[in-house]
Amino acid sequence: MEQSEIKAASPAGSPLLKVENLSVSYGHINALKGVSIEVFPGEIVVLIGANGAGKTTLLSTILGITSSTSGSIIFDDHRIDKEPVDRNVRKGVCLVPEGRGVFAGMTVLDNLLLGAHHNLQNKDKHLERVFNWFPILKERKNQVAKTLSGGERQMLSIGRGLMSAPKLILVDEPSIGLAPIVVNDIFNILVMLNKEGYTILLSEQNAYKALKCAHRGYVLETGSVTLAGTSDRLLNDPGVKAAYLGA
Ligand SMILES: Nc1ncnc2c1ncn2[C@@H]1O[C@H](COP(=O)(O)OP(=O)(O)O)[C@@H](O)[C@H]1O
Ligand SMILES: [Mg+2]
Repeated sequence: MEQSEIKAASPAGSPLLKVENLSVSYGHINALKGVSIEVFPGEIVVLIGANGAGKTTLLSTILGITSSTSGSIIFDDHRIDKEPVDRNVRKGVCLVPEGRGVFAGMTVLDNLLLGAHHNLQNKDKHLERVFNWFPILKERKNQVAKTLSGGERQMLSIGRGLMSAPKLILVDEPSIGLAPIVVNDIFNILVMLNKEGYTILLSEQNAYKALKCAHRGYVLETGSVTLAGTSDRLLNDPGVKAAYLGA
């Protein structure tokens, strides 16, 4: 599947996610300083930013792991920024964390079942879909996760997120630490899931490949959005080229 194939729809209707003027501090460190972004249903949106820009902070604040100091987060027409993580997961937000976050000593199957802990009555249906998308996980379901390759662990982490039947998948730096060919597989999986109807917000330092598969993007620099636009626009922006595309 060509990653460029999906570059179609521009935002229409109301956003699935609206982050407005969001600020987050860790003590005296202002990690996010008034960030506003929107993600519309059916989109892949990428947050481009260097190490320390605030990507993980933004994604973890959307899920509810990290608390904001000001601003708002509206998901599916409801304000969620004061809600606990488990409620946000039930509402349809999931996070595929930086570094995958799989439990190395647990089996593939148990890692996946953790993703459905709030919705166990539907676990078989979701498991079947995940195994359908990731046959390798089915083959290895009884192996402990530490025996998987990096790419397989990333698939497991994405699969675990899918077990919660999300409406919005947050994916934090999926390509980190993976060989280039495996990175292509992971981005192709995200495009495939998007075609299946999932809305995706991902963060990446690997700007070129991420923009190639996303519809739109935001550039995050030291806690502020400095540029936003369609992927084509960002790919052709001289500042983005110089800072993130090695041009
Ligand atoms: N738990 C934490 N405690 C203190 N500072 C943190 C913590 N997490 C992140 N930071 C700081 O917040 C800023 C944004 O970090 P982060 O969101 O991890 O950026 P990114 O994911 O883009 O690399 C950085 O200056 C980082 O050092
Ligand atoms: Mg990060």
